[in-house]
Amino acid sequence: FQPKLLAGRRVVVTAGPTFEALDPIRGITNHSSGKMGFAIARAAREAGAEVALIAGPVSLATPRGVRRVDVKSARQMLAATEAEIPQADVFVATAAVADWRPATESDQKIKKEGGGQPPVLTFTENPDILATVAQGARARSGELFCVGFAAESHDLVRNARAKRERKGVPLLVGNIGPVTFGQDDNQMLLVDAQGVQELPRASKLVLARQLVAEIARRRVPA
Ligand code: C5P
Repeated sequence: FQPKLLAGRRVVVTAGPTFEALDPIRGITNHSSGKMGFAIARAAREAGAEVALIAGPVSLATPRGVRRVDVKSARQMLAATEAEIPQADVFVATAAVADWRPATESDQKIKKEGGGQPPVLTFTENPDILATVAQGARARSGELFCVGFAAESHDLVRNARAKRERKGVPLLVGNIGPVTFGQDDNQMLLVDAQGVQELPRASKLVLARQLVAEIARRRVPA
């Protein structure tokens, strides 16, 4: 018998990359596959939660029973997330949000003809969705439990601890290993106020189920 650890809870998950348009044809994005976030959405649903999955551009099937909201840019992802947060009990930010977007978006294709110089791109900072939500009233009053992710290439424990503090979240998940994007398995480090716990390498779905159990344990004390 599998207890429904998150029955009656509302969970919001961000997943995938964002796409920051340069013109109607082109834009800037990254290699996030969205697999980890989709696995967490599925695992949370299996655990009985009502799940909203805010997805950047990915080619993945929507997990059964999950409500999916498709977005492109970081600003759209923030708006879609903020629309869900007033009802949410748990927020899990797995999305690889672009840190910067082109400062201007041309409404016409930027043309190569004319023999001029290549365009010079200037950037502006995107909103930090996780930090914004974690600073919001629901998170600060303890009604909303926020979980962040960190993909680090070195000094994982130190960087994950620092990121947990900086983002202001009770639980931060560090990804161990150089490449996790697109892979079907992963390895995780859970960093909270008590310390560090390792979830050994397993499929993203197995890890997602373990993470959901850890969230439920912290969010819904026995
Ligand atoms: O600062 P960094 O991008 O490494 O932080 C990663 C964590 O913050 C992830 O949980 C990611 O989903 C979230 N994040 C966000 N909005 C941003 C940047 C990161 O929600 N603009």
